[in-house]
Amino acid sequence: MDSVLDYLRRNQKRFVEELCEYVRFPSVSAQPQHRKDMEACAGWLVRHCRRIGLDAKLCPTAGHPVVMARTPGAKSSRRRHFMVYGHYDVQPPEPFELWQTPPFEPSIRGCSLFARGACDNKGQNLAHLKAVEAYLKTGTELPCDLTFVIEGEEEVGSSSLAGFLRTHRAELRCDAVVVSDTGIPAKNLPALTYALRGIAAFEIIVRGPARDLHSGIFGGAVQNPALALAQMLAKVHDVKGHITVPGFYDDVVALTAFERKQLARLPFHREPFRKFLGVPELFGEHGFTPDEQRTARPTFEINGLTSGYQGEGSKTIVPAWARAKATTRLVPNQQPAKVIKAVHAFLKKHCPPTVSLEIKSGHGAEAYMVSPKSATAQAALRALRKAFGCEPVLIREGGSIPIVNQFKHILGADTLLLGLALPDDNAHSPNEKFDLDLFASGQRMGALLWQELAV
Ligand code: BES
Ligand code: MN
Repeated sequence: MDSVLDYLRRNQKRFVEELCEYVRFPSVSAQPQHRKDMEACAGWLVRHCRRIGLDAKLCPTAGHPVVMARTPGAKSSRRRHFMVYGHYDVQPPEPFELWQTPPFEPSIRGCSLFARGACDNKGQNLAHLKAVEAYLKTGTELPCDLTFVIEGEEEVGSSSLAGFLRTHRAELRCDAVVVSDTGIPAKNLPALTYALRGIAAFEIIVRGPARDLHSGIFGGAVQNPALALAQMLAKVHDVKGHITVPGFYDDVVALTAFERKQLARLPFHREPFRKFLGVPELFGEHGFTPDEQRTARPTFEINGLTSGYQGEGSKTIVPAWARAKATTRLVPNQQPAKVIKAVHAFLKKHCPPTVSLEIKSGHGAEAYMVSPKSATAQAALRALRKAFGCEPVLIREGGSIPIVNQFKHILGADTLLLGLALPDDNAHSPNEKFDLDLFASGQRMGALLWQELAV
């Protein structure tokens, strides 16, 4: 094991250069103009996996390709088998003007590497690859078999991956899945995430007049769809931040006293949090702390709101339509379809007869929760303790990784969520970054994890 850790220490500089190569690919899965970049990035990964000694292949799908790589000899052995999941696709980088350095030109400032995808998720999955490289290149026997599955559609809903898991079910059968695509509260607070929120996405379209109308000639005698939509949306929350949709909270599993106590032990300071967010005052559901609100309570968010004229100057119209893109984050036991139905009924009830309403359902996923007491979770905690040299914490997180539910349903495997992103790493925002100390700790965590998990 010493030679593995020593190899990691000695090769840090090259690893950072390789991470720079990786983040140079503008692998934006949502934007069709980047299809070639997606392929190039996947190709780079396959070659990289082969160079470090893995058996790797590019697996085409109806969408973006999946990279699958296994430790040599894995097929025939009877040892324990773990899957490492990650994604090479990234969120769109816009707005470009808010980046201090261009999103696909990696720049090191202080202890961080700035680039789109640096933490979400390229830096985190590369850390695991480097850990395995250290075993393979030092001739240290891995105590288990590993298969890496690195996909290109995570940021757009992983639509091809469930089919991929079914097709490759036999080779992917494993004892557990390891995913580093979550966060930690602080650099000296490594964490095992034991719950993620689920999600239900939908779009609300309100239609009024057959075309945009002169607001002077017709305004006053016709319902304004933008106002109608705003009025409907305004009814979704009460002044205490509770969601008023009947049935919305029906299936919510309450936080236990133990969980609330654990959460309360995490360092949290209102004022720095407020400042970081850039809001004049914090807001959230009464009766819950901000950490509870953003990780263990369901929400209803508007992600985008559009209607009428958005260009320069003014245009005096009553717009023909208004639309909102919305998501609810779900907690354990809530069903996406049931929640969407409740929201749909609520909006219908509050939609005035003077406009028409359409709701389009989008992707959905249940929340995820595993016991932090399982043997695999305990093994992960030991690895974290050794890799970071400090005591790990148990956390729930508010983001969603829908595919982990499929790991359970299709492969029968639980997922260990061992993230490396800091709260201020700006995932999905301008100036995304990844802490290079955490890149190194993540590699150590990866290396030690296999020792702890295989016993
Ligand atoms: N890495 C995130 C998920 C995440 C972020 C989990 C922070 C825990 C803490 C992932 O890449 C992501 O952004 N997922 C999307 C899923 C959606 C597109 C279905 C999300 O949460 O919005
Ligand atoms: Mn993401």
